[in-house]
Amino acid sequence: MNKKYRRAVIAGNWKMNKLPAEAAQLVEAIKAENAGADNSNVTVVCCVPYVDIDAAVKAAKGSFIHIGAENCHWEKSGAFTGEISADMLVACGVEYVIIGHSERRQYFGETDLTVNKRVKAALEAGLQVILCVGELLEQREQGITEEIISMQVKIDLADITEEQMKNIIIAYEPVWAIGTGKTATAEQADEVCEAIRKTLGALYTPALAEATTIQYGGSMNAKNCEELLAKEHVDGGLIGGASLKAPDFTAIIKAAR
Ligand code: PGA
Repeated sequence: MNKKYRRAVIAGNWKMNKLPAEAAQLVEAIKAENAGADNSNVTVVCCVPYVDIDAAVKAAKGSFIHIGAENCHWEKSGAFTGEISADMLVACGVEYVIIGHSERRQYFGETDLTVNKRVKAALEAGLQVILCVGELLEQREQGITEEIISMQVKIDLADITEEQMKNIIIAYEPVWAIGTGKTATAEQADEVCEAIRKTLGALYTPALAEATTIQYGGSMNAKNCEELLAKEHVDGGLIGGASLKAPDFTAIIKAAR
């Protein structure tokens, strides 16, 4: 990462894990693990299931931990059974939201067009967005990773203004590395994060590209985080499995610090 130009962001993606009481315990444990540490140069976020938001927000209050959600709908309200709007998240104390995670794309029919709608709605509600992009294994093997990622970034960010981009974090998550224990090499992660920065430079300005936080995600853990975060273009991590254990998540925060 290059802290001169941009902020390090370490975000946990809890996925469909933890009951509300366990969520409060995990936030408390992360606070305890970080007791006395100066986390002023890294932003720490826990993105939690909807039903855990209240407990997590209460437990994180007054600490360095920000609470995020894992998705939101693009409409403000209406007949969308089972959905949650961005305004609802804000009203519950949520500050961040993950949009376009590959599991949403893979299992719930999410497309770049719906991702773009959700990104717009989340920004309008005042949320910070963690936008996920990433290639499938077949796409990497076909040598089209950069084309795929560039296309995702362009469609997902359609009509997003330069001003709104201040509230966007991009997470590069190769789909083949998520939850598989197969991490991209630090070089692969850096290469694609740099390519994303180039795409942003072309879409907006080189200065905006330099200032945008781009995370790596996919089996990041306490062991491999230092090497990944040492790369120029890797400004943080979106962490699944390892974010569910306070000591492991803290090791990653420490590496980012
Ligand atoms: P993982 O998940 O760290 O368990 O691979 C990352 C993610 O899906 O955001």
